[in-house]
Amino acid sequence: MVSRVIPVEPFDLVIFGGTGDLARRKILPGLFKRYCAGQMPDTAQVIGAARSPMDSDAYRAFVAEAIREFSPSRFCENGALDGFLACLEYVVVDARGTDGWDELAQRLGPDRVRAFYFSVGPGLFGDLAERIHLHGMATSESRIVVEKPFGHDLETARALNATLAEHFHEGQIYRIDHYLGKETVQNLMAIRFGNVLFEPLWNSQYVDHIQITVAETVGVGGRGEYYDRAGAMRDMVQNHLMQLLCLIAMEPPAKFDPDAVRDEKLKVIRALDPVEPHHIVRGQYGALDGEHPGYREAVGNPRSTTESYIALKTHVSNWRWAGTPFYLRTGKRLKARSSVINVMFKDAPHSIFGPEAGRHANLLSIRLQPNEGITLKVTIKEPGPGGMRLVDVPLDMTFADALGPEGEEPPDAYERLIMDVIRGNQTLFMRGDEVEAAWAWTDPIIGGWQARGEVPKPYDSGSAGPDDADLLMKRDGRAWRGITP
Ligand code: BG6
Repeated sequence: MVSRVIPVEPFDLVIFGGTGDLARRKILPGLFKRYCAGQMPDTAQVIGAARSPMDSDAYRAFVAEAIREFSPSRFCENGALDGFLACLEYVVVDARGTDGWDELAQRLGPDRVRAFYFSVGPGLFGDLAERIHLHGMATSESRIVVEKPFGHDLETARALNATLAEHFHEGQIYRIDHYLGKETVQNLMAIRFGNVLFEPLWNSQYVDHIQITVAETVGVGGRGEYYDRAGAMRDMVQNHLMQLLCLIAMEPPAKFDPDAVRDEKLKVIRALDPVEPHHIVRGQYGALDGEHPGYREAVGNPRSTTESYIALKTHVSNWRWAGTPFYLRTGKRLKARSSVINVMFKDAPHSIFGPEAGRHANLLSIRLQPNEGITLKVTIKEPGPGGMRLVDVPLDMTFADALGPEGEEPPDAYERLIMDVIRGNQTLFMRGDEVEAAWAWTDPIIGGWQARGEVPKPYDSGSAGPDDADLLMKRDGRAWRGITP
């Protein structure tokens, strides 16, 4: 299937932290792919800004290296890389001082979109916003892009919002949650609101419960210092899983526009019940003999009580969902990489086939990654003569088979998100009040286990997480779906 690419107008994009890991792995390779697709014009300008002393030629060599490492090789063909590199410049900038700011201001073109990507720690957001303003770079066509973590709790998130609001209005602030840029996550909205099939059943009358799983095989890697302060609750649940929950639970927005969508998501977060202490399980992974260090060793903190795994049950207390629990779980070093949402429907209200036909319920499984696609489990007659025996079979659809040329990877989240910044479309970005509401729900959960001095349960690397997570379900007469790639 040929995708339609609408080129954007020429723009200037300044990447603060232009030599950092995110720029190298995601932002620049993502831009390059958009360039190859014909979406980014040759007259666009991408300016790397960082402290490392180098000139623009050295930066181009640095970016070429990153693209070779992180972009699929076929994108580097046909001189496209040279064309892209010609759009790049570099300026040495001191975020907290005065060096480089005048030069940066002079490089920007007049009357075009200006995007300032803060690919740096949140401690620098205020300094950058202030200096952009002081040096006259903030026009009505300017916007800033900020990465997570957006705050450590409600108080710090509020302070961050207030700092940014001193220099930019909400319509200029693009808070990234890269899950929203994933094709399959956007597909949640298409599946729900583009089909008449599901919506009438999408409520507590027909849905028994919903499971949201984001399982990773990776550990904390080189981010031990950050992660040990954050833990799975702050790192994954407050943002990524929360966004998935919102998209699954929200009311249909009147239209697909930024505030209509974000208003509905906000209502979901505000309708979330506080989580009871016995409805949450925290875990911490152990070592895998000879292969990986355990969590404590990985973060260099032998007494760490930070969780690398969370499973919890919550409710969205509104008319649509009263009585339907939402079970969320996420963890590192689990048995497979698998992000999936399972919508478990109730049994048919009455079986005309009698008790011997067994119990059967429909299930809609939305695989976000890998092997992106959806499966609907339906009940049919088991073939063959004899009685009426029933069997559950999958109606299975993998997006790559249905849509893509063979082997084509879905676009990376950053490709979509960066272009949305340039186009000025905030639909897939978090609004300030949304982030604060998510922290308002998260804070008491974290505060509770801190007050009770709780420590996470150990679990084996390569397992499905701590046994207590199974008990959380079992107590309700339910079970997690298996974690399979
Ligand atoms: C990041 C978290 O936001 O998301 C990481 O900080 C996590 O800890 C990552 O590994 C997962 O993203 P993805 O796209 O690999 O599912």
